Amino acid sequence: MGQVKVWMVKSCTNLTLVAGRTRTNQKELPKMPVPPLKQTFELYLSVLESIVKNEELKHTKELVEEFLKAGGVGERLQRGLERRAHNTVNWSTDDYLKNDLLDNRKPVVVRSNFGILFTRKDIEKKHDQIRCAAEFIASILDIKTKIDNNTLPVDNMEGQPLCMKQYEQVISSCRIPGLKTDSLLFNAKSSNPPKHISVVHNCQFFVLNVYNSDGTPLTVEQLCVQLDRICNSSPETNLESVGILTTQQRDIWSKAYFNVVLDKTNRESLSAIQSSIFIVCLDRAMTPVLDEIMYRKSGILQMLHGGGSHWNSGNRWFDKGLQVIIGEDGTWGINSSHATADGSVLMNMCDHVVANMKNPQMMQSAVKDLPVPQKLHFNITPQIKKDIEDAKQHIDTMVQNLDLRVMVFDHFGKNFIKAKKMSPDAFLQMALQLAYYRIHQQCCATMEPASLRMFRLGRVAVIHSNSMASAAFVKAFDDPKKQDLEKVDLLEKAIKEHRRQTKMVIHGQAIGIHLLGLMLQAVGENMSVPGIFTETSYAKAFDFQLSTSQVTSKTGCLPCIGPEEPGIYDVSYSIMDNHIDCTVSYLEPSNACERKNPTIFINAMKDALLDMRTLLEHTLTVKL
Ligand code: COA
Repeated sequence: MGQVKVWMVKSCTNLTLVAGRTRTNQKELPKMPVPPLKQTFELYLSVLESIVKNEELKHTKELVEEFLKAGGVGERLQRGLERRAHNTVNWSTDDYLKNDLLDNRKPVVVRSNFGILFTRKDIEKKHDQIRCAAEFIASILDIKTKIDNNTLPVDNMEGQPLCMKQYEQVISSCRIPGLKTDSLLFNAKSSNPPKHISVVHNCQFFVLNVYNSDGTPLTVEQLCVQLDRICNSSPETNLESVGILTTQQRDIWSKAYFNVVLDKTNRESLSAIQSSIFIVCLDRAMTPVLDEIMYRKSGILQMLHGGGSHWNSGNRWFDKGLQVIIGEDGTWGINSSHATADGSVLMNMCDHVVANMKNPQMMQSAVKDLPVPQKLHFNITPQIKKDIEDAKQHIDTMVQNLDLRVMVFDHFGKNFIKAKKMSPDAFLQMALQLAYYRIHQQCCATMEPASLRMFRLGRVAVIHSNSMASAAFVKAFDDPKKQDLEKVDLLEKAIKEHRRQTKMVIHGQAIGIHLLGLMLQAVGENMSVPGIFTETSYAKAFDFQLSTSQVTSKTGCLPCIGPEEPGIYDVSYSIMDNHIDCTVSYLEPSNACERKNPTIFINAMKDALLDMRTLLEHTLTVKL
């Protein structure tokens, strides 16, 4: 079989909440449909048109024609997929989880996990860090109660309630490394759900029971006492940091994992971490932060990878569904496994947590006698020590190779674009297309994730932001022979095409997941993989050189996303009313001749946004 194309969808959005509606009946949500075969291939060909050569397109058209022949392979695979859809709750989520996430052998750190950075806290002493962590923990436990009771307000998109399952999956979950494929552990709904969190400080792990014997969660004061005890029993030492193993490439980690679990003490310690409700990472202070841009940059990196083996990368368990991170320097946020939830769910959850932390009631309660938090021990054999040393080298190389730039674009935001009667998201996507074209003199395959949560157990699917319409717009933009009115017309058409695709995707008509489903169907039926999935055009369509995502918070939190692949730009943005927050990240490839530069890209993006505004304002003046 040809290599199954793997791509990762990341990010988050500004999903709104249905006021007053708190309960969701998952079973009432529609099932994910299988799109019509012809529709998918028509759209596929139109996406290819902007990025492949004419002769490649001609060859692909022939293959598609053959595939779609009446009574042919296409119809057979489509029928199989429809049967699978009938027999499963969500056929595309099964494919996505397996193909994109659990079978993916890349490290989860930077290249898969999602982070969120909160606005800076004034923390001066250890005491402040502990207090912040205690408030954070208490707030999440409160949200957990709402998740458990199904009373968290239901998310909504286009007036439709969304699937809330992912909130449940973030809690008490962990990814377990395996050879060739990983698995997921969900403990929230077990017969004996966990009552403890794990805490890591100076790379030493602890179990902290967060419920009193009467079932009430520990108060902020009680948590402060317990966290203080943990900090006092974990001084800085040269102890081996087992957590750093979770930064490794998955097959390497799974082999190391096998060695770790041979020992009974290690097994018990691992089990305590994996089953915990979430993990709290009490980090050392990193570089001094002087201004907001510096905070954002260093904070995003701290959430993404922890700064390397000399800083906080070993003070983590990157396989956990949820890692809560609080630095001694006031940097705080989360890191989460993508396998358990999408960025949009995590961002909503963080918005709830931040809002909840302002609730003063949580802070009242007397401190009772509390059991001492239990320290977790690991027996480090020479082989495990070697695995840890290899992991340190690996993460330090990745940290060094990651280039990340942050921009606060304060010239305009959503309000201006809406006033021009355009979709802000599509407008920004066209600015990205223009920026890329100006730098590289060509269009590239570009992806943006959109939510499938209107369907039961839905995750995300890809919008292909590059189209013939976007190509026509970017090619015309700097052409002195083109009139401004014509450029505006092309921009409007490109935006319309992007909106059309967005609608199709969120309503379950994405081409990427359909094509993947058909290909996996062929594999499942032991057929040879049809030529359309092994030829160059298919590879090019999903070889995203621009991986983008809109991630917008209501409380000023920022998304932290790294590139899935070396050599591509990852752009995450939040479109606020009057400004745009944006981060561009890039992993240096080891052997590429053409290197890219995120600083150049971010500047090009800023220019594109400003030039597009000038065009609209100028044209408006002309029209008047
Ligand atoms: N004129 C005026 N206003 C317009 C407009 C137009 N032509 N088109 C859109 N707008 C408005 C919208 O009504 C909306 O208004 P609001 O601010 O009152 O909510 C606003 O502009 C934003 O709309 P738009 O920019 O078009 O984007 P969107 O909010 O529909 O988001 C996606 C687009 C793709 C991000 C969204 O559909 C989605 O799927 N998000 C989830 C992504 C996800 O799950 N990510 C996680 C991956 S891990």
